[in-house]
Amino acid sequence: MTTIYPPEPFRIKVTESIRLISPEAREAALREAGYNLFALKAEDIFIDLLTDSGTGAMSQEQWAAIMRGDESYAGARSFHRLKAAVEDIFGFKYFVPTHQGRAAENILSACLVKPGQSVPSNMHFDTTDANIRARGGRPTNLVIDEAFDPTNSHPFKGDMDIDKLRAFIEKTGAANIPFGMVTVTNNAGGGQPVSMENLKAAAEVYHEYGIPFFIDAARYAENCFFIKQREPGCEHQSVKEIAREMFSLADGMTMSAKKDAIVNIGGLLCVNDENLFQRIKNELILREGFPTYGGLAGRDLDALAVGLYEGLDEAYLAYRLGQTAYLAARLNEVGIPTIQPTGGHGVYVNAGAILPHIPNREFPAQALAVELYREGGIRGVEIGSVMFAYPDPDTGIWHYPRLELLRLAIPRRTYTQSHMDYIADSFAKIKGRAGSVRGYKFTYAPELLRHFTARFEPL
Ligand code: F0G
Repeated sequence: MTTIYPPEPFRIKVTESIRLISPEAREAALREAGYNLFALKAEDIFIDLLTDSGTGAMSQEQWAAIMRGDESYAGARSFHRLKAAVEDIFGFKYFVPTHQGRAAENILSACLVKPGQSVPSNMHFDTTDANIRARGGRPTNLVIDEAFDPTNSHPFKGDMDIDKLRAFIEKTGAANIPFGMVTVTNNAGGGQPVSMENLKAAAEVYHEYGIPFFIDAARYAENCFFIKQREPGCEHQSVKEIAREMFSLADGMTMSAKKDAIVNIGGLLCVNDENLFQRIKNELILREGFPTYGGLAGRDLDALAVGLYEGLDEAYLAYRLGQTAYLAARLNEVGIPTIQPTGGHGVYVNAGAILPHIPNREFPAQALAVELYREGGIRGVEIGSVMFAYPDPDTGIWHYPRLELLRLAIPRRTYTQSHMDYIADSFAKIKGRAGSVRGYKFTYAPELLRHFTARFEPL
């Protein structure tokens, strides 16, 4: 790797057309969607950075594997090909496929969480949080304080605060903690990696108290590449070796394969405990399907078996993290502040700093999201007060999140450097008129998970 932003280590064989509709048509689409970008038609979007989940481009090897899919109900060849890959990469004793990450979380929570119990993590992703709550449990986030400072350039801002973890276990009691987690990379905190040293320390504390340790492995390969780049002593290890070491510390993992396994659908749940595995299989049969397909078609299992290796390819990972860093650098050049350092799967734009005249209650990150679509037909996702502000149940006073962010999640192997340049140019134009951008108010908002279906009106 000699360049900072390595070119795509692939060329394009199949294309999918995208089009930029006229400014008038974009304005009409916004009005019709109630200024909520989730309600837009995908065909009206030019560059879609809503999520990196299931939106990546599969390789020719994956498409060829799709044709080899064995659709037998039980014991399909596809399952055994996936099993070989999962055992080779992760090294856990047992696994089941699931239809996506939240299904693995649901099954694990159903088997282990009892009402009133707590599950600590650096930061839970919102579906993990909700699945633990759905069983009466209490998800708890114990990431290091640096994670909340957008300018702090700590190389492993996803790290668990080990002192807080120990204090939390002492206070809660190990008997009230059915399992503990760490999310790699920390999506809810900007796609920031966790160091191997920190994973070892977290595993040690969990195990000292007899608490099983699970990794949320959605973006484990990107995390392992950051470890190789940034952690002293790891530079000579292969990413696959780093991954093996990471998972050897844990008792199991949940994974949304829609991220680092570069498939459009799929998930994994792995464990070492045989008794737990039996219970998982029974729950899986009820919710997902027979344990050798778990809610997926045989062809999906085959695409996943291939994608797991492609996601670990170091030339790919250098390009992948380079592309994210490139977009952040271009944005910073035109005066758009982003969370530092740049995470793995996306750029988190500090909307609050770009639109300081819009107070939290008028949703500055939502205003920026709308403006980005208006300007360039680009869709990002608000991670600010629309998603996270809530009224105190006793006083009715609203609590606002510490940061108003717009996440630009980058689908894998999907957009090129000129798309990234176009995104930066669109931001530069918005920057020029930032002072005249107005806030929004709700015309409809459900009580929970508001961001998906809320409707707005410009102020
Ligand atoms: N864990 C993490 C860290 C995630 O980012 C996600 C999904 C999940 C679990 C759930 O997986 O979607 O396959 O059920 N994140 C997507 C996103 C939706 O846009 O960040 P899933």
